[in-house]
This record gives sequence, C-alpha cells and structure tokens, in this order.
Amino acid sequence: MVKVLIIDDDESIRIILARLVREACSAADVAVSSEIPECGVDYALLESDNGSDGIRLIEQEHPDVIISDLLMPGIGGLDVLKRAKEIDERVPVIIVTAFDEMSSTIHAIQLGAFDFVSKPIDHEAFKTLVTRALEVKRLNDAGACENSAVGTGAPDGPVLVGNSREIRNIFKQIGMVSGNRVTVLVQGESGTGKEIVSRIIHSIGITKYEPFVPVNCSALTETLLESELFGHVKGAFTGAIRDRKGKFELAAAGTIFLDEISEMSPEMQVKLLRVIQERQLEKVGGEEPIPVNARIIAATNKDLAKFVEQGKFREDLYFRLKVFTIDIPPLRERKGDIPQLVVYFLARINARLHKNVSIVPYEVMDMLQNYDWVGNVRELENVLTQGVLLARGNVLDRGCVVLGQGNIAREGIAVNKDLTLAEVELEYIMKVLRKAHWNKTETARILGISKSTLYSKIQEYGIEKDE
Ligand SMILES: Nc1ncnc2c1ncn2[C@@H]1O[C@H](COP(=O)(O)OP(=O)(O)OP(=O)(O)O)[C@@H](O)[C@H]1O
Ligand SMILES: [Mg+2]
Repeated sequence: MVKVLIIDDDESIRIILARLVREACSAADVAVSSEIPECGVDYALLESDNGSDGIRLIEQEHPDVIISDLLMPGIGGLDVLKRAKEIDERVPVIIVTAFDEMSSTIHAIQLGAFDFVSKPIDHEAFKTLVTRALEVKRLNDAGACENSAVGTGAPDGPVLVGNSREIRNIFKQIGMVSGNRVTVLVQGESGTGKEIVSRIIHSIGITKYEPFVPVNCSALTETLLESELFGHVKGAFTGAIRDRKGKFELAAAGTIFLDEISEMSPEMQVKLLRVIQERQLEKVGGEEPIPVNARIIAATNKDLAKFVEQGKFREDLYFRLKVFTIDIPPLRERKGDIPQLVVYFLARINARLHKNVSIVPYEVMDMLQNYDWVGNVRELENVLTQGVLLARGNVLDRGCVVLGQGNIAREGIAVNKDLTLAEVELEYIMKVLRKAHWNKTETARILGISKSTLYSKIQEYGIEKDE
C-alpha cells in the first residue's frame, strides 16, 4: 500500500488535492504496484492542515509521496521539505503554492523537491505528476537511483522576472545546475536574458562567493582574446610589459562567462577545447601549466548545432559545452510574462531616472502584449525607458510607447523629436556601459571620451549599475 500525505492549511485545496490523488492512484496501472494490477494502486491518504503536524506524520508514517503547500502559518513547505529529506532523502515532495515566484521555486528544487506546482492547479498535469512521483518512489525502493540537485543558499542579486511555464522551467533548470560545477550552455535570441540567467546560476549556487568573470568572445581579436582568457607573461609580445592574469585565472573557483561563443575563431576553439579537457592552461609566452577551476557558462544567440553542421564551430567543443543546455524561449513565445516585466522595469527605470511613471492604461498593456519583440526583453526594457523619458505625468500613455524599431540596442537609439540631447546621451551611455559589462575603461574607449569625462557624466546623470 502506498501512503500519500497532503499538507495544506486550506481545506478546500486539501479536498481537491485528495480527489486528484485518488483519481491518479485508481488510474495508475501496473507500473506502480505489481500486486493489484487491475484496479490501480492500493493507497492510503493522510492529511494535515499545518506544517508541524505534517512533519509528525512524516516521522510516524513514512509516506511514499508528500504534497505540501508552500506558505502556511508557522512551519512552511520548505521546512517540511527539508525535514522530509532528512528522514528519507528519496521521498518525492511536491510543493504547491499560490505564490509563484523565482526564489521559492529555485530554493525548493535546490532542496530536492520533486516538482513545484502553482495554483490554480492544472488537474491533469497534477495527476500525471502524482503518478510519476509514485513510480519514482517505487523505482527507488526497488534500488534504482534518482538524482536530485542539492544545494544551499537563497537567491539574491540579479532577478529573472516572469511566471510563464517557460520561465518556471528555467527556474528549475537553474536550481539543477547551481549546486554543481557542470558546464552550461545558455542559448536564446538576443535580449532573452542569457546573461542574467548565467549570473543567477553563479550567484545562488556554490560559486556565489567567488568571482563572476564575463568575456565577450566577439569583441576582441584572436591574439587579444587569447591573452585576455589565458593571460600572458612579460615580454610575450610587443606591449606585454608585465605578467598579466587571464580571465580564467581571475575567475578562480567562480564562473567564467563566455559570451557569444559562436564568434570564437577556429584556432581559439582548439585552445579552449584543450583547456576544458585538461583543466589547465598556459599563459601566452608562458610554460608553467596553471590549473583551471572555474565553472564555464557559455552563451550564444546563434544556433550552435547549425554552426557545427556548417563547419563553423567544432563539434567536439560543442559537445564539451552542451553538457547542460538551457534554452531561453523568445519573449513572443511567453507573452504572459510581459505584464510582470513591465511592472518590474517601470519600478527600476523610475528609480534610475527619478521619475514616477506608474500607471499603464489597459490599451497600452494590450499593445505591449500583442507586439512581437524581436529584440526580446532588452527591447521591452528599451521601449519602457524611452516611454518613461517621454511621459509627462505619471501615465505611460500610448504616445510614449514607440514600437517597431526592432532591437534598439543593435540599431542605435531611435530618433524621436521629444528626446533632448541629454536624454539621448544618458540612454546611449547606459547602453554602452551594459554592453561593456560596466567596464569603465572599455566604455570610455567605445564612446571616444576620456575616463574622467565618463566619470563626470556618470555623476551628472546619477547613473548606477543596474545589472
Ligand atoms: N526575465 C527577465 N527578468 C528581468 N530582467 C530581464 C529578464 N530577461 C532579460 N532581462 C533584462 O533584459 C536585458 C537583456 O538581458 P541579457 O543581457 O541577459 O540578454 P542576452 O540574452 O544576454 O542578450 P544578448 O544576446 O543580446 O547578449 C538585461 O537588462 C536583463 O537584465
Ligand atoms: Mg548577452
């Protein structure tokens, strides 16, 4: 007989969950119980309306599957999950919550939750989940082994906003890789959030107290990239006036973020492959091998598999990188995230520009939701920044929202008669700062101004690092 425990302070939810569990168990076939194949699974339902009684039942009854609400008065779902895992590491725990947000999802998955479902509950999906949980438990009891990503630490720092199925799936994947050092390949169109996902993997997981070192593989020439990545010794080439540490070395036991990996030259691809294989490198002009401990996260907005087919990217390197792949879908395929993103960005932009644009009329929100966002989240952010600058009161009215300019980041700032020169300058400086990962020397170089001019402009506009 299998025992299923339901913990929820809301009686009506317990009733629904109990019914779904009953349906799942009676529909479940031989897979779950070989003893009573024809009539589903023989099961017992246990219920509790609070976390501490729930834990007591776990201790006494050792249920096979636990379904727990996340937020309850007193002991919450994460505590239940922790205790359940201490008692029996292999028990599947399904966390149910109305509060669908990133940190709890990631944390629950890190703590080893079997899955995470949000209210309103999709009945069919939930039943399938219960059946799967029962099956996994049976396999476990039979001696098979399941992996669960275990890690610690609550997320802070960069945030990934959204609650679509797609983005929740990404939260889960982040939870799975943040507790280990596996190489990750993040793929997605430009502006979908590849860098932010990479930063979150770094900052919530075991690398969080170590450096995060971004390198844009397309921004530098071959020789410069090699010395940038691996460092050089004094005298290795003209201009190498002293020893210099490379980004791999600077990343230490943290993360090296190889952005736009598809743009790496064939020669550099060979060198990178060797570093990954041997977990050590040599500085340009150096002879001593240096161990490599950093976790690699690579990102690309190109279809890397196609690049491999076309002979533009080495297949062996591709396989080394795609140990774990995270595909971020374009924003137009998860339009449900748009309202949350709008609210989130408006708050940030208002704070940065000392504005208070907080009202978004329905028709404007509709317009934003119906647009195709070729430049994805970055384009949305840019359109909103421009909107806030153009708004004269606290309403983001239709006239402020200028759509149809594609990815402004790539195409430059839209000419708009209402923007003052200072506003355009501020926006452009922000774009370059972000592009250069807030490296002031690089930003000043791109802008063609001195570093001190850049600093005075940063002060003048009250620019603060926003990512
Ligand atoms: N889900 C999200 N929640 C909050 N901010 C987001 C989200 N997705 C993207 N952003 C923001 O959108 C901007 C673009 O994201 P990011 O730089 O991570 O994209 P990218 O995929 O690396 O783009 P590119 O390919 O052009 O380098 C950043 O300012 C980032 O903070
Ligand atoms: Mg990027």
